[in-house]
Amino acid sequence: MTIQYQCKISQNKIKHRIKEISTQINQDFHGKELTIICVLKGAFIFTADLVRMIKIPVKIEFISVSSYDGMISSGAIRVNKALTADIKGKHVLLVEDIIDSGHTIDYLTHLLESQHPASLRICTLLSKTASHKNKYKIDYIGFEMTNDFAIGYGLDLNGQYRELPFIAQVINSQS
Ligand code: HPA
Ligand code: MG
Repeated sequence: MTIQYQCKISQNKIKHRIKEISTQINQDFHGKELTIICVLKGAFIFTADLVRMIKIPVKIEFISVSSYDGMISSGAIRVNKALTADIKGKHVLLVEDIIDSGHTIDYLTHLLESQHPASLRICTLLSKTASHKNKYKIDYIGFEMTNDFAIGYGLDLNGQYRELPFIAQVINSQS
C-alpha cells in the first residue's frame, strides 16, 4: 500500500506537550499511587514517553483492543488481550493514542468502571473532537486533531507507520 503523508506534529512538539501533561498528572496524583493502563497497540510509544516523566509511584498495565480496519472504524470492539491486574480500589489512568468516534473509550470506560477503581481518568495523545462531539470526559489531551487520518508515534494504518517519530497526516492513499 502506497501512501503519502505530511508531518503534522513534530517530535519536539510532542516532547514539550508530554512534559506539560506529566507535570499536571504529577500534581493531580500527588501523594497517591497510580495504575496506568496502556491501550495497545497505538498508545505504546506515548505511554513509554509519558511514564518516564512521572514522579509518583506507578504500575503499568496493558490492554489490547481493536476496532479499526484500515481507515474505517468497524464500530465493534474486540478485546485481544484482557487486563490482568486487579484495579479495584486503585487510581487508574487509561492512556489512549486517539479518541476518534469514541466507541473504544466508551467501551473501555464501562469495562473498567465495572471493576470499581477508586478513580478513573482518561489521557489521550490525540482527540478528534469534531468526531466524538465532546461526549466523553477526557482529562488529559495531547493534541486536538482535525478529521484527517493520523499515523506515526504509535498510530497505524493497517499495522504500518507506528514507528514514525512524529505524528503525520495521510494525504492520499491507494490500497
Ligand atoms: N489514525 C490511526 N488510528 C486511528 C485514527 C487515526 O486517525 N482514528 C482512529 N483510529
Ligand atoms: Mg489502529
